[in-house]
Amino acid sequence: MKKILITGGAGFIGSHVVRLFVEKYPDYHIYNLDALTYAGNLENLKDIESKSNYSFIKADITDAEVMNELFNKNQFDGVIHLAAESHVDRSISDPLAFIKTNILGTVNLLNAAKLAWKDEMDKHLFYHISTDEVYGSLGETGLFTETTAYDPRSPYSSSKASSDHLVRAYHHTYGMPVVISNCSNNYGPNQFPEKLIPLSINNIKNNKPIPIYGKGENIRDWLYVLDHARAIDDIYHQGKNGETYNIGGINEWTNIDLIHKLCEVMDKKLGREPGESAKLITFVKDRAGHDMRYAIDASKLYNELKWHPSLQFEEGIELTVDWYLNNEEWLNNIISGDYENYYKEQYKER
Ligand code: NAD
Ligand code: DAU
Repeated sequence: MKKILITGGAGFIGSHVVRLFVEKYPDYHIYNLDALTYAGNLENLKDIESKSNYSFIKADITDAEVMNELFNKNQFDGVIHLAAESHVDRSISDPLAFIKTNILGTVNLLNAAKLAWKDEMDKHLFYHISTDEVYGSLGETGLFTETTAYDPRSPYSSSKASSDHLVRAYHHTYGMPVVISNCSNNYGPNQFPEKLIPLSINNIKNNKPIPIYGKGENIRDWLYVLDHARAIDDIYHQGKNGETYNIGGINEWTNIDLIHKLCEVMDKKLGREPGESAKLITFVKDRAGHDMRYAIDASKLYNELKWHPSLQFEEGIELTVDWYLNNEEWLNNIISGDYENYYKEQYKER
């Protein structure tokens, strides 16, 4: 039985990856390692938690000793590393948390893997999940390719860029088999409501202002989270050692157009008059250093691994809204306590 360690599996993307692997590969044992920070939520995995090929390990990747012990004890065949601090706004107010988890935590995992795999390095794989934000910000034209020079501009993207460099360094210096993928913005079920789409769904539902940074002209390239999980599966199994793959859905939206689309869907689902939810749109102070545009050229993944996004955005956004409206308890559990404090602090001067 293959043993695969997935870090950050209680988070948004990680939970979809864990479910996909547990269900699709009964002959793998999936170890989900997560520190359960504010963003980690085992509710995301309730439906698979009792499967015999799944185990949860509560641990913090910033603890080198614990990582060494775990690798020594379990002899993982491969790692899919998603654990990270992931929200750009939080990285602006607390960069150090991002340096610790995203850089130090990744090095701790690399060191633990290097030690545990030293005799048979070639039989293992370290798959690092990264972001398109490492490439910086685009103007009106152009796309990020795998050879675009790194130009991270926020503490979050800088910490992810550092971790990408370190993963490549362990490949070149120590011969560790690695793959890296850099994906565009994900959306879908289980996303923490600090991010644009779930935050807006929650506010629309509760008739609260929808805060749009600046003029809402910034562009993001949105991919349904299950399509990202499928791409991770393909890359883990078929990606070439040492290679990088960009993942994206050819689905660019300005923030303001996306929110109008979301309001249209929410009006329909909530039985409101057309245009009612859009009245909640409120332009607020811009994000510091706000990247203007991200857009991915994923042709390497399309051509070499034959992966393609399965959903059109119109379909994906309906599924997402339905999920949030049908999972009120999940949302309510999250938006009390700490989240309320975060929200007040984050949006007080905007
Ligand atoms: P998330 O914030 O929803 O989840 C992160 C998970 O990591 C949480 O479960 C959290 O508890 C865990 N975690 C955080 N610090 C940890 C630590 N020190 N030790 C162990 N676990 C820890 O994030 P997400 O949106 O699911 O993103 C997952 C990964 O994908 C990240 O590496 C992120 O950079 C990358 N990514 C995200 C997107 C996106 O749009 N969300 C796009 C591209 C890449
Ligand atoms: O591109 C991939 C990245 O996408 C991931 O690496 C990150 O982990 C993920 O958080 C996401 O980063 P963004 O900063 O693009 O996502 P966010 O949902 O925070 O913001 C999307 C856009 O919406 C961005 O232009 C900022 C804007 N925004 C965001 C919030 C939270 C608003 O206008 N208002 C808001 O309240």
